[in-house]
Amino acid sequence: MRRSLVAGNWKMHGTRQSVEALLAGLNQQDWPEQVDLMIAPPSLYIQQCRESLEGSQIRLAGQCCAYQAEFGALTGEISPAQLREAGCEYVIVGHSERRNLFDETDEVVCRKFAAALACGLRPVLCVGETRQQRDAGETAEVVGRQLQVVLESFGVGGLAQGVLAYEPVWAIGTGLTASPEQAQEVHAMIRARLAMLDDEQAQCVQIVYGGSVKADNAEALFAMPDIDGGLVGGASLNADEFGAIARAAGRA
Ligand code: 13P
Repeated sequence: MRRSLVAGNWKMHGTRQSVEALLAGLNQQDWPEQVDLMIAPPSLYIQQCRESLEGSQIRLAGQCCAYQAEFGALTGEISPAQLREAGCEYVIVGHSERRNLFDETDEVVCRKFAAALACGLRPVLCVGETRQQRDAGETAEVVGRQLQVVLESFGVGGLAQGVLAYEPVWAIGTGLTASPEQAQEVHAMIRARLAMLDDEQAQCVQIVYGGSVKADNAEALFAMPDIDGGLVGGASLNADEFGAIARAAGRA
C-alpha cells in the first residue's frame, strides 16, 4: 500500500516575515498522520522552516540542487549534501520551470537525481508535457523520454527511492487543472511502463500530481487509484488551503 505525499513548492516566494506567518499557520493545522508532508521553501528560508517546524510531521525539501553531490567551484549552486545538512530529506529535480527557463536537459536532471540519491535525499523527479505536445498526442512519448535516462541509470528501484511528479506544463500556475481522469490516465500509463520493467517496484513508486491543485479539486484527484498525492505550488502559500489539501489526501 502506497502512502500519499502532499508537497508544497513555494518557488521564489516569501520574505522572512511572510514565511514566519505561513509557518505559524502551518503549525496550527490538523495534519493527517497517514500522509507524508513536505514543503520546499526558497533555500534562504530552510533554516527558519526547520526551526519553526521542529517536531512537526512536515519534512523539508530543496527546490533544486547542483548536479555535483558534495562541494565544488559551482558559483550560485547548492549541493545535495548542503541541503541534507540543512535538514532537507527531499529535493525537487527536473521541474518544468528549470527545464524550460534554465535549459536543464534530461541528462542534467539525471545527474541531479544521482547526486541527490548519493547524499541520501529523496529526489522528486518532475515530468510533464506542454499544451502543444498534448494537443499533438505526444504526452506518452514526452513523459517516456523524460523518464528514460533515469530509468536506464537507476532502474525502477532507483525511481522508487525517490518520488515521481506528473506536472503537465499547461496546468502549472494557470488554474487549468488536469481533470482527475486526464491525470489518472497519464499516471496509469507511467506505472504500466514501469511495471513492464519491474512490476513489484512499480507498485511502490509514489506518483504525485502537480498543476493547479487546490483544496476544492484535490479530493477528486487523490481519489484516483494511481494518484498518490500532489505537488502544490500557489495553494501551498496559504496554510489553510495547504492543510485542506493534505486532509483531502488523508481521506483518499
Ligand atoms: P501550481 O500549483 O501553482 O499550478 O504549481 C504547480 C507546481 O509547479 C508545483 O511544483
